[in-house]
Amino acid sequence: MELEIQKIDPSRKKPIPTDDSKLGFGQVFSDHMFMMEYDAGKGWHSARIEPYRNLDLDPASLVLHYGQEAFEGLKAYRGKDEGIYLFRYLNNLQRLNRSCDRLVMPNLDIPFVAEAMKQLVLLDQDWIPKSPGTSLYIRPNIIATDPFVGVRPSNRYLFYIIVGPVGAYYPEGFNPVSIFVSDQYVRAVVGGIGASKTAGNYAASLLAQMEAKEKGFTQVLWLDAKERKYIEEVGTMNIFFKFGDEVVTSPLTGSILPGITRDSVIQVLEKWGIRVSERLFSIDDVVAAQKDKTLKEVFGTGTAAIISPVGTIQYKNVDYQVADGKIGELSQKLYDYLLALQYGYEEDSFGWVEKIG
Ligand code: COI
Repeated sequence: MELEIQKIDPSRKKPIPTDDSKLGFGQVFSDHMFMMEYDAGKGWHSARIEPYRNLDLDPASLVLHYGQEAFEGLKAYRGKDEGIYLFRYLNNLQRLNRSCDRLVMPNLDIPFVAEAMKQLVLLDQDWIPKSPGTSLYIRPNIIATDPFVGVRPSNRYLFYIIVGPVGAYYPEGFNPVSIFVSDQYVRAVVGGIGASKTAGNYAASLLAQMEAKEKGFTQVLWLDAKERKYIEEVGTMNIFFKFGDEVVTSPLTGSILPGITRDSVIQVLEKWGIRVSERLFSIDDVVAAQKDKTLKEVFGTGTAAIISPVGTIQYKNVDYQVADGKIGELSQKLYDYLLALQYGYEEDSFGWVEKIG
C-alpha cells in the first residue's frame, strides 16, 4: 500500500505551544494525522497523512453505540543530540492487534503502520517539546464505522493516528500521588476485556474515579472482581509494591492491562539484580506490610504516567502512608533510568530505543 502525504497549507498551521511547563496532557494536537479505512472484502486502503481535522462519522456508526474500538498510547522523545527517539513501539502495535482480536476487529500490518507513524512524527517534529519529561504523545485508534444499529462486528473501520505534545499526566508531576482502593466497583473480570486497550475499560472506571477525586485522591486502585482482595492495577497505570527487598506486581491474569512500561520495569529490575515477582497479593498483605513497616515503596508504571510514586493509599476509610509520603529511592532510580533510556542518553542494552531523526 502506498502512503500519500498531503501537507497542511502553511497559512493554516496551528501555533505550537512555547511554554512546556503549561503543556499538561492530551490537550493539544499537531497539524497532521494519519488515516486509513478498512472494508470487508477489500482490507485496509487509502492510507494517507493529511491535515488534522474533524472526522466525518455517520451518527449510527457502530463504535458510537457499542464501543467497538481499540487504541494505543506511546511517545516520541526529543533527546540526545536533538535526536527523535521511539521506545518499544512494535510492542504497542502488537498489543493493538491483540486488542483488535479481542474486539473482533481486523489486524493492522505492523511494519506499514510503524512506517506511517514515523512519517507522521517526522512531519510534525517541530511539535516535539524539548524540556525534560515532555514528549510527543502518539495515539493510534481503530473505530467501527458501519452505520448500523444492532450488535454485531462492523464491516468497516477507520484507523487513525494523532499526535500532540504532553507534559506530566498527573497534576502532581513526579510527586507522590494518593490512591483510593475501590471495594465497591470493579474495573474488569477475568474473561472480559480488561487486558485490551479499549474505551469500555476506561468508561467503566469513570464513576469510581470521580468519587475518588471528590474525596481528594488522584486515582483508583482496583481489586480483583471476584474476591475483591487481590491488587490489580490503577486504571491509568500498572502498580508495583516493594515489600522488604522484593518488588511485586500483579500477574497478567487477563483482567489487567499488559503494560509495556510494566514489562520494561520488570526487565530493568532483573538486570539490576533486584528480586521482582509477578504474583497475586492482596490489599490485606499491603495493609499488614504497612503496619509492620516492610512496605517500602509503591509506584505506578505507564506510558502516560511513566513512573509515578504513590504516597498514600486509602482503604476502608483508613489512610496508609507509604515511604513517608515521599518519592522512594527505587522509584526515583527507575524514573531517571527509564527517561535516560527513552531520550537516548543511556546505553540501550535491551534494544528498545530507535532513533528516527
Ligand atoms: C497511556 O499510558 O499511554 C495510556 O493510554 C493511559 C491513558 C490513561 C492516558
